[in-house]
Amino acid sequence: ALVVLLLVYLVSTFIFSSQEKGEDPPGPKPLPLLGNLLQLDLDRPYNTLLELSKKYGSVFTIYFGPKKVVVLAGYKTVKEALVNRAEEFGERDPMQIVKDSNKGHGVLWSNGDSWKDMRRFALTNLRDFGMGKKACEDKITEECEHLIEVPEKNPSDSDFFSVSLVAGEAFDTTQPMNYAVSNIICSIVYGSRFEYDDTEFTSLVDRTNRNIQLAGSPSIQVYNLFPWIGRWIATKKEFNKLTDANKKQNLELFRRLRETLNPQMCRGFVDAFLVRKQHLEESGITNSHFHNENLMNTVLNLFAAGTDTTATTLRWGLLLMAKYPKIQDQVQEELSRVIGSRQVQVEDRKNLPFTDAVIHETQRLANIVPMALPHKTSQDVTFQGYFIKKGTTVYPLLTSVLYDDNEWEKPHTFHPAHFLDKDRKFVKRDAFMPFSAGRRVCLGESLARMELFVFFTTLLQHFRFTPPPGVSEDELDLTPRVGFTLNPSHHKLCAVPCM
Ligand code: HEM
Repeated sequence: ALVVLLLVYLVSTFIFSSQEKGEDPPGPKPLPLLGNLLQLDLDRPYNTLLELSKKYGSVFTIYFGPKKVVVLAGYKTVKEALVNRAEEFGERDPMQIVKDSNKGHGVLWSNGDSWKDMRRFALTNLRDFGMGKKACEDKITEECEHLIEVPEKNPSDSDFFSVSLVAGEAFDTTQPMNYAVSNIICSIVYGSRFEYDDTEFTSLVDRTNRNIQLAGSPSIQVYNLFPWIGRWIATKKEFNKLTDANKKQNLELFRRLRETLNPQMCRGFVDAFLVRKQHLEESGITNSHFHNENLMNTVLNLFAAGTDTTATTLRWGLLLMAKYPKIQDQVQEELSRVIGSRQVQVEDRKNLPFTDAVIHETQRLANIVPMALPHKTSQDVTFQGYFIKKGTTVYPLLTSVLYDDNEWEKPHTFHPAHFLDKDRKFVKRDAFMPFSAGRRVCLGESLARMELFVFFTTLLQHFRFTPPPGVSEDELDLTPRVGFTLNPSHHKLCAVPCM
């Protein structure tokens, strides 16, 4: 009788406590080891997750191989988790490939007090060396001039867009946008920009971009799930080699900055970090987070997170303008009416509602980080009646927010009117979440928004973007290329100078 009583007690406490905590979020039945991998479109997993959310609801479980992942879908759910329950859903779950090289340092993939210190310090310095409005605007404006200038002496040596105008040829927008945007990070981080033909610069940028592509490749995704196969994965070796080369090059750049350091006049993030580190050391603080590994990894993070994202968004913007010439007409009409030929300033944004709406709509439709970056729960959580254990990986499905049909009139169409009211004034939309939200919201959001505005408007003031000769607007493909961020598929455009 005692045993029966004990059993009844154990069963009832189990039922009671699981009811109190809630059940596991529902989801498709996993296979051993493979989980739900066979059901996933591995090239575009966010599409499968979007489909599954229709069947299982806005909080569901899926197994990426042996890894259990809880997916959050739709504006209301993502906002409730990331904003209203920010602490519980605000940890990062780093992928294996980055864990191998950063060992928990930096700002993008780290957690705990070290992440807090790095995030706070990076934000302050982005503000001081970048977002401190005028300083940043000046840097972006200067970069625009380099991007579009045609050297008088030898026009065929000109960079990027002007190549098209000199030679009349269609060109790939990838490199010009990557170089221009990377130079903004260089000025913020090192305190100066580089010439576009400086191999020290081009190798740093090219390696960073190659690594971002590799991070999104199917083979690295498989390695992240099954790290024991690492030794057979060639792309993993390439990834590590490129990371090591970028570290080596940064060490050299840091050395030069250290040699010319003037604590009264910090030139950029690295100087400010070195000064802080020195102060802490002089005060006898030996366990601070301002150490060399955090310096290196935070710098690498700012490059990785702050270049490809902004450059890709700008490329989408130019592609969409070439595809929808009537919308491009309206942007150019507004720019010429409100600004004329003078340099656009951030201040002008409020007087350019249509252009602002086009930039926002580009970001919404381009949806370049469809699953945000992996989060994890910092504690046991009961959410919308479901129980999610501490340490569970969580994907906030940003696609489902940016394409949420409860929020957007035409979710799958390029429709700038999503951001305009009936008087054609710009309206903010809460479900506009390309930078995610809450505790891990993009650290570079303000900088990126400034860059997008100044680069996009300046380019459209100077050039009209068209498909290459012989290609119709309809033929310009908007299917994204597979990768860590969603890039436009390979294409070329012409930049015809505006008179
Ligand atoms: C994180 C988007 C530009 C630095 C993120 C995340 C997204 C995002 C979706 C993940 C948030 C999450 O996990 O919930 C974008 C987009 C950009 C952009 C769409 C441009 C259009 C930038 C720039 C910088 C930057 C210019 C740096 C200067 C970061 C960093 C994080 C981050 C450091 C990690 C934040 C943390 O974990 O605390 N970004 N980003 N991003 N972004 Fe951006």
